Amino acid sequence: ALIKFISVNGDVREVNADSGSNLMQVALDNGIDEILGECGGSCSCATCHCYIAEDWLDKSGKPDEIEQEMLECALDPSKNSRLACQVNISNELDGMVVHLPEAQY
Ligand code: FES
Repeated sequence: ALIKFISVNGDVREVNADSGSNLMQVALDNGIDEILGECGGSCSCATCHCYIAEDWLDKSGKPDEIEQEMLECALDPSKNSRLACQVNISNELDGMVVHLPEAQY
């Protein structure tokens, strides 16, 4: 799936993401510096915080309770916030737009 990461300064980076991976891993593999992923994807650090573009919220799924709680630890969470490590990549997400935060803390 093609994923578009958009930085706060407007930079757009398009990357190819394999199904079965997660959005945090995809960001790390493609040098997207805004995503840190310090806990390695176990939903316990909130340094993989990102914002899913409104149009993609349905397809990307909803955060579960644990993710919801962790999101409160993120810097400047919003209603379209997700922890990237909890977003599973599938073909459904081809073209998804992800906005990156300015910082993780
Ligand atoms: Fe730590 Fe996602 S990598 S919560």
